[in-house]
Amino acid sequence: MSYKTSIYEDVNYYFKCFNIFLAKAKCEGADMWNRQWAGLLAQFQFNADEEIRMLTIGAGAGYRECLIIQHLLKRHSSIHITVVEPAQKPIDEFKIKAAKITKEFPGVSFEWHIQTFENYQKDHRVSDDVRDGSFHLVFAGHSLYYMDDWQYALDGMYSHVQSGGILVVTVIRGQAGAGRLAKMYRKLEGCSLNLQTSDDVKHQLKKTNSEQMIDQNMYREDAYDISDVFDESSVVGNLLLDFLIQRRDFRMSAPHGHLEKVLQFLRENSVQENGKYWFYSDEEDVVAKK
Ligand SMILES: C[S@@+](CC[C@H](N)C(=O)[O-])C[C@H]1O[C@@H](n2cnc3c(N)ncnc32)[C@H](O)[C@@H]1O
Repeated sequence: MSYKTSIYEDVNYYFKCFNIFLAKAKCEGADMWNRQWAGLLAQFQFNADEEIRMLTIGAGAGYRECLIIQHLLKRHSSIHITVVEPAQKPIDEFKIKAAKITKEFPGVSFEWHIQTFENYQKDHRVSDDVRDGSFHLVFAGHSLYYMDDWQYALDGMYSHVQSGGILVVTVIRGQAGAGRLAKMYRKLEGCSLNLQTSDDVKHQLKKTNSEQMIDQNMYREDAYDISDVFDESSVVGNLLLDFLIQRRDFRMSAPHGHLEKVLQFLRENSVQENGKYWFYSDEEDVVAKK
């Protein structure tokens, strides 16, 4: 196995790493998320009598989507959510949450596409001459990194937004620890696979849809306890390291110099507190309107 192997090549391995990473969060950002999204959605007041259509790409178990639905329900009683997610296990978890929502709110409906966004596009791509989609809100939470051609995928996401609607792409923030790690490592490896940051997304959106970007400054600081990464005998540490660098079996397969540089970066850019290393992996919502 090459040290450049994407962590997503084995989906089960990916989710193992992802869940360990999530479990290490300090969770400072949750309240902020609610405040920011309430503010964002209040700016886009769609017709209250109309059905709100949302497309969510790489939804995972739907944690964020359920929160977004709660916000939308404050103003709208009819909401249709089209879910695109290739992994079956998180979709099953999402469906359980969705069933509870539809029971309580019969005006909420879901449509499931268990496939990659690239495959969804084969049947649903908005043709280049139309350029006006049918969704009020298109959302991609930390999934853009895994698209075959992320610039093309981003363009496709934007094309699904209807006039007056918004695209929100949540990714790691370029200016914080994990974003800077991604930038450093992709130079080292010479490959940017799975390592996009909010700076890349903003740059690309500005390039293709300059007048549509909204400077919301929507990001949340969040610290993760990565102390195990520095214990080379720790299995959890290796899984965490793989998630941070988005490569499979990084400690075992990376050239020694790469491993050393990554560990040094992580050590120097962590905050030490009570013997723990806290590393900031802030997330940012990049917002574009149409
Ligand atoms: C980091 S998880 C994010 C899950 C959730 N949206 C969140 O923010 O917690 C990335 C998700 O993207 C999905 N994904 C990976 N490749 C994808 C693709 N080509 N198209 C759509 N989703 C994809 C994964 O299966 C996974 O659920």
